[in-house]
Amino acid sequence: MLILGLESSCDETAAALVTDTRQILSHKLAGQEAAHRPFGGVVPEIAARAHVEVLTPLVEAALAEANVTLSDVDAIAATAGPGLIGGVMVGLVTGKALAFAANKPLIAINHLEGHALSPRLSDPDLQFPYALLLVSGGHCQLLEVRGPGDYRRLATTIDDAAGEAFDKTAKLLGLGFPGGPAVERAALLGNPKAVPLPRPLVGSGEPHFSFAGLKSAVLRARDAGIHSAEDISASFTQAVIDCLIDRTRIGLRKIHGATALVVAGGVAANQAIRSGLAGLAAQSDLRFVAPPLWLCTDNAAMIAWAGVERFSAGQTDTLDVPSRARWPLDPTAEKARGAGVKA
Ligand code: KG4
Ligand code: ZN
Repeated sequence: MLILGLESSCDETAAALVTDTRQILSHKLAGQEAAHRPFGGVVPEIAARAHVEVLTPLVEAALAEANVTLSDVDAIAATAGPGLIGGVMVGLVTGKALAFAANKPLIAINHLEGHALSPRLSDPDLQFPYALLLVSGGHCQLLEVRGPGDYRRLATTIDDAAGEAFDKTAKLLGLGFPGGPAVERAALLGNPKAVPLPRPLVGSGEPHFSFAGLKSAVLRARDAGIHSAEDISASFTQAVIDCLIDRTRIGLRKIHGATALVVAGGVAANQAIRSGLAGLAAQSDLRFVAPPLWLCTDNAAMIAWAGVERFSAGQTDTLDVPSRARWPLDPTAEKARGAGVKA
């Protein structure tokens, strides 16, 4: 089985060809960092326009590199949300046009499902169900992954996502854009105990995550003028790790029979966070699985792989499937308190 995957939900445009035997025949990705850098964050209109310009050439390049044509593909998987709606529409409409022109099935992929299933692309031994900490720029959730299209959300953030906290910290400290990798680099040169920062919700019986208070504390630490950006970055990262570990430990109690503790999403590219979670997995007698770094941040291989999983399960979509700015993986999850709750 050969699936073409398309991704365009944020600021990465990508196309990939992946087989059900986990071969990544090609992966083409174009980032937009330079276009957004002057604004210190992703500008949705600039992102959508850039996706329009590069997606079709990327598809052509991916097909050429894999030495196949569209007729060799079994189905086309495109991200249909959640994300910046203009960009999502570009990728989904492109996927629909290709599916219609080549008379191939379309699979509308939830971007979060792409992240959630990506560890099974890199690790053939990872079986359902598993506990997944999904930490990205827009989401921070603990999920029980039972199979394609079958998720139980145990916890979510009541305000900012973990990646958002990294991006805001980078902005406050003038470390540049994109924020996560910049904070990680600065943190390597700092002392994680130098700056006293809060650990929101740690110790609470409530299962959820919270990072907004941490961001405000970073602002105060910066304005105090006595700490280096490196020390603030290291202390901030340690606070995030402590929050993630404490909250995940609580949530794991509610998952029975998990085969592994898995971390995915852009923030999972952070080495210190990976090490902290590996320690928690060891304490919990669970195998720890984290995809390679390039598969943690947005890419099309994970979308193609989610396509493989859904197509294998007989899940395809019609050409009128909508683009969605919001699209929870577990629509039955209880609403968490908090103004900025992300599904
Ligand atoms: O999954 P992703 O690529 O896009 C979304 O779906 O949101 O995640 C992007 C997020 C950004 O907030 C970025 O700052 C963060 O992941 N990130 C990191 C690292 N690399 C990316 N955060 C911490 N450390 C990193 N090395
Ligand atoms: Zn993502």
